[in-house]
Amino acid sequence: MKTAAIILAAGQGTRMNSALPKPLHHVGGRPMLAWAIDAAKASGADRIVTVLSKESASTQDWLGQQEFAIQHPPLGTGHAVLAAREALANFDGVSLVMFADTPLVTSQTLVALAGQIAAGQDIAILGFETSQPTGYGRIVLDAYGKVQQIVEERDTNGEEEAITLVNGGIMAARSPLLFDLLESVDTSNAQNEIYLTDIVSVGRSRGCSVACEITGGEELIGVNNRTDLARAEALLQAQLREAAMASGVTLQAPDTVFLSAESVIERDVTIEPHVVIGTGCHIGEGSIIKAFSHIEGARLGACCVIGPFARLRPGTNAADGVKIGNFVETKNVILGDGVKASHLTYLGDAEIGAATNIGAGTITCNFDGFNKYRTIVGKNAFIGSNTALVAPIAIGDGAIVGAGSTISDDVCDDDITFTRATVETRQQAAPAFRNRKKAIKEGREEKQT
Ligand code: UD1
Ligand code: CA
Repeated sequence: MKTAAIILAAGQGTRMNSALPKPLHHVGGRPMLAWAIDAAKASGADRIVTVLSKESASTQDWLGQQEFAIQHPPLGTGHAVLAAREALANFDGVSLVMFADTPLVTSQTLVALAGQIAAGQDIAILGFETSQPTGYGRIVLDAYGKVQQIVEERDTNGEEEAITLVNGGIMAARSPLLFDLLESVDTSNAQNEIYLTDIVSVGRSRGCSVACEITGGEELIGVNNRTDLARAEALLQAQLREAAMASGVTLQAPDTVFLSAESVIERDVTIEPHVVIGTGCHIGEGSIIKAFSHIEGARLGACCVIGPFARLRPGTNAADGVKIGNFVETKNVILGDGVKASHLTYLGDAEIGAATNIGAGTITCNFDGFNKYRTIVGKNAFIGSNTALVAPIAIGDGAIVGAGSTISDDVCDDDITFTRATVETRQQAAPAFRNRKKAIKEGREEKQT
């Protein structure tokens, strides 16, 4: 049986209090909508239709070529599903209704839910038991333990409010039955909306069968506000850390390390406490990321040693055995095998050849306020401490640049280049200098203005 996922992303997200549409808020380094779409894909959905509001231009941009339908104006979750009716006009199979604010749902759960319909049920809902049901619809069972209806929190009476079996939101139903049932759902509720949840009571009154899959509550966390977002992030981070450790990564203090779903960390990497690894990273086997480092969009080869206190920004591409030490920032830079930049350096828009040593305080001056320029340094070169490399510039293989230099012309292979200001020395002048300063401080001598 074919499956179509309808992902609802048209709500106003009022409780987020944000200029950014709720589906584009990130967990684990990616938009919540991306998680929902990927779960739908992984569950084998044949079609995925995302329902957007007219206002969500940025969400539509993000979707690109992927299929969507417009709900206008947003009048509830049931109304949002009806917006996908036209797109699925000729579709006969299982419709899986998903939410863009439920990012942790697994494809296995979606498969189980869709399986209920394939096995002959008309409607299948997802429920979980919780001691904190606030914000969720309550699942009301009849005397035989069958699902009778779902009551939204704002519509509950005292007895229903106390129910701890709640609706995860995601549902499956036969299509086109789903749309037929929604036609009969009215807006007689506290929010004057067409609730998706009402297909349960409407279906029951027509003799439809309703199955309830029970899962753990964590994967069904619905993100309505920033507190929920932080909870979802915490749950996802815990999963990412577990997955990293299972794949052979040492995390010395897992709770202090923040990972991204879109980064790859190879085996035998060690990550010290308080490290952030953002999106688009690939960290090669045996590398060590020392404490308090921040890495995003960086590729590292095998056995690199990074930090402590290093900042690797997007476009950093290091080969094997590269050492980047404390207070070094890199961006858009290619580093050959064994390059060392051990302290206090900025390398941007640069290419550094294998085994080159970059001294403390070296700065690639890559920006003139308008445009950016590249710095190319060859292999086996030595850049002395406190050097400014004014790009565009090329330093040859084996070249040596003396400490404290500002270099704005190219340096040939194996040349030694440096700049020096004139050095002035006044022999034995320090004691008299000190005496004069002391006298001024103690008021024995006038301060010169
Ligand atoms: C919904 C369920 C509730 C369940 C909870 C689980 C309904 C009526 N209620 O409540 O039973 O316990 O999820 O998290 O279904 N949306 C639209 N168009 C709209 C309204 C909403 O596309 O007009 C989308 C939202 O963008 C969101 C999803 O539907 O992705 C859920 O909407 P939301 O308002 O968050 O529903 P809840 O109040 O959480
Ligand atoms: Ca919600």
